[in-house]
Amino acid sequence: MLTQIARTDHEPAAKEAVNRAVLHLRQGDVVALPTETVYGLGADALDPVAVAKVFEAKERPAFDPLIVHLPHRKWLTQVATIPAGLEEVIARLTETFWPGPLTLVLPKTDRVPDIVTSGLPTVAVRVSNHPIFKRIVKELDRPIAAPSANRFGRMSPTSAAAVQEELQGRIPLIVDGGACSCGLESTIIRLEPASPKPRIHILRAGPVTADHLKPFGKIAKERRNESVEANAPEAPGMLQSHYAPGKPLRLLDSPAAFRPEPGLRYGLLSYRGEEEDGYLDLAPWTQVAVLSPGSGKLPEAGVRFFHLLRQLDRAGDVDEIIAEPVPDRGVGAAIMDRLRKASASRPQSY
Ligand code: TXA
Ligand code: MG
Repeated sequence: MLTQIARTDHEPAAKEAVNRAVLHLRQGDVVALPTETVYGLGADALDPVAVAKVFEAKERPAFDPLIVHLPHRKWLTQVATIPAGLEEVIARLTETFWPGPLTLVLPKTDRVPDIVTSGLPTVAVRVSNHPIFKRIVKELDRPIAAPSANRFGRMSPTSAAAVQEELQGRIPLIVDGGACSCGLESTIIRLEPASPKPRIHILRAGPVTADHLKPFGKIAKERRNESVEANAPEAPGMLQSHYAPGKPLRLLDSPAAFRPEPGLRYGLLSYRGEEEDGYLDLAPWTQVAVLSPGSGKLPEAGVRFFHLLRQLDRAGDVDEIIAEPVPDRGVGAAIMDRLRKASASRPQSY
């Protein structure tokens, strides 16, 4: 299959790209679409045959459910039911964070095909804030099921070129909406009625942080992801092999933890690129990629994270990627989550 790339950086190309994407979606095809978090591989969420093509193109196991992206907040009650006692918190959360990188897991309605939720009684929903995605989903006027547009177990793509690396030849169209403005997958939460405040379980850390969510309820302490079995139902992106580059990645907790092996060439994924942090002088790195050059700003690190990881993964003179830790707070918690999973997983072959 020939994979075409549709540009959107000017009109009328953008309008044409939107029309082409909508046409494919109406025909039951999958298309790669930009969102503010990462690129998604979208299909009409209400068409089980189209959704099956998403699993096929990604080689995604059927037990890993998809996120449903709504055209508008008002669509929520079409695909999900609002549990008693959560009406207010859900209204406040969706008013505050939608459109945006927050995904809610709620009981599903019968309109959502079982294949979307892998047979679970719940559905994960969000409304994307990306201008092109918004145009496409509104024009389609149906929800779009879209996991990240990578092959299963690999890194999420944050540019059209990265999607191409992942899915070239497997899908008809990639809509190029530029680089993703968050660069990390959405925060996924589950809510539990409780008094005096509902409890918020963060199932996947992301751009909407625990601090952002605190005013809306009590943040429940989750078990660490490692304890979740590969096929456990409440396991959003929680498989250990997620976010894996093709090369081995080692996450250090301090400079002293680095033990180089003779003959191996190492690339450093640095947080600030500052000598005083103690990592730059540790080894004759063949590559140094800096997440947040000089400034040490976590959102900037988030935007660049998957892009730089891909760069190190591709570099011909790097055998192993060594990652500095980033502060485990705010968006940093989401980055550390991805780094821990990438370093726990065995390298994937291309
Ligand atoms: O930012 C994002 O969330 C991106 C963009 C495209 O929206 N999507 C994304 O999808 O990251 P994906 O499939 O790569 O990750 C979504 C995770 C999956 O790991 C899945 O396990 C979890 O959401 N999930 C989906 N439905 C669920 C449900 N009903 N209960 C618990 N987890 C669920
Ligand atoms: Mg994914």
